[in-house]
Amino acid sequence: MSRLVAVSNRLPLGDNPSGGLVVALEDALRSSGGLWVGFSGEQVDNPADDLTWHPGASFERASFDLSRRDYQDYYLGYSNSVLWPLCHGRADLVRIEPAHLEGYRRVNARIAELLVPHLKPDDRIWVQDYHLFGLAAELRRRGVEGPIGHFLHIPFPGPGDCAALPNPAELFDWLSHYDLLGFQAHRDLSNFTESARQLVEADQTEHCHFRLCGRTVRAGVFPIGIDAAAFMELARHAPDEDEMRFLTGAQMMIGVDRLDYSKGIPQRFRAFQLLLEKIPDLHEKIVFLQIAPPTREEVEAYRDIREETEHLAGRINGQFATINWTPIRFIHRPIPRNVLAGLYRQGRIGLVTPLADGMNLVAKEYVAAQDEDDPGVLILSRFAGAAETMDRALIINPHDPWELAGAMAQAMRMSREERRSRHADLLAGVVERDVGWWSRTYLDALAAGSGG
Ligand code: ADP
Ligand code: F6P
Repeated sequence: MSRLVAVSNRLPLGDNPSGGLVVALEDALRSSGGLWVGFSGEQVDNPADDLTWHPGASFERASFDLSRRDYQDYYLGYSNSVLWPLCHGRADLVRIEPAHLEGYRRVNARIAELLVPHLKPDDRIWVQDYHLFGLAAELRRRGVEGPIGHFLHIPFPGPGDCAALPNPAELFDWLSHYDLLGFQAHRDLSNFTESARQLVEADQTEHCHFRLCGRTVRAGVFPIGIDAAAFMELARHAPDEDEMRFLTGAQMMIGVDRLDYSKGIPQRFRAFQLLLEKIPDLHEKIVFLQIAPPTREEVEAYRDIREETEHLAGRINGQFATINWTPIRFIHRPIPRNVLAGLYRQGRIGLVTPLADGMNLVAKEYVAAQDEDDPGVLILSRFAGAAETMDRALIINPHDPWELAGAMAQAMRMSREERRSRHADLLAGVVERDVGWWSRTYLDALAAGSGG
């Protein structure tokens, strides 16, 4: 079997990664083995001109550092101030700087330069996410001929948003160098198809085959999953007693997200406020635990969302708290995964309300962590990729506080029988399409197109 080489911006070298890509890829590589190459997280004055190897995992890991300028232009700039907001429907937050696009091209080329000397002729290369759209073109330019696939963890933008890129044709040219493009949801595949047709020369030649910018590319939907069996086990044996003292008999509603504007955290705070205003009976009977480690704080929009959410949580607590009860507990730290699993398990409600999201693994983790005999209720945004398959959750529009508050009330009074029935269906899907299924299905499809 040929070696799998995964390349992503972020390579997790420490504990408690928060981010769907690293959690999923770590689970996938642990079982398949292979090499994972990514950014060390270190900004330095003079980055080394070779990869640094990190022993100690069941697969090989090699990292590269970034110069401060590359970090600014490629990561904070083009990746997270152009591509991320556009892919999440926030063209209003896009900040276009020619130097950032230049930096994005430069870093994609540099990663190819670092990678090529370490490649074997029959390697399968699997490029992850929006930071590295340009990597296949750079590898091909350096003579790499083997299969190269791309998987996009976040939504693909429709034609309107793509048109707001500084150079939309370049995105499709980059994509045309891959053998297989993987998307999280059907919504993304149809956005890709429609955007390509409207903005560049593109045609669907047969099912899932496209002529794009003069090359042939395949594209498909591969919804990412979690290591369900391992997470269920983690939740069953999670430490819980001490962590739960704050509940003092109340039911818990839990949200776990990076503190990102795409996650709809202010919207869920406002809906919770509405719930407490409309149903005073719930006072002291529900506590909302929101765990949200800050992320990308050098970008203004992320500083703004932190300020907004902290302000809102303070205001709502000020409005309703009593001596014995703080309605919202807002925690900004990464949490060890076993503790996280235990917290999900205690949650009567799992709140996953992004305004836009590729998949959202928290929805799947919450379901896997439940006690099957007395499970909680998942409230899920229709704008998460997960909503395409997890339709037994309470599916809501996160922009509508009335609908969201209504779902919270419904979840609080839902009978055990209904909770068990909904949960059993959701769990079956999470177990069947786990992370192993995701990586196998994708890699089989990549191999099928390259005769391997
Ligand atoms: P995204 O990739 O946009 O961050 P996902 O929901 O797909 O969103 O993935 C988030 C991942 O990060 C999940 O596996 C979740 O458990 C993990 N995570 C989020 N917040 C924390 C935290 N505070 N501590 C530990 N893990 C976290
Ligand atoms: O899953 C989406 C994603 O953007 C990943 O690409 C990324 O690793 C994760 O969220 C966390 O973001 P960052 O790597 O910028 O901290």
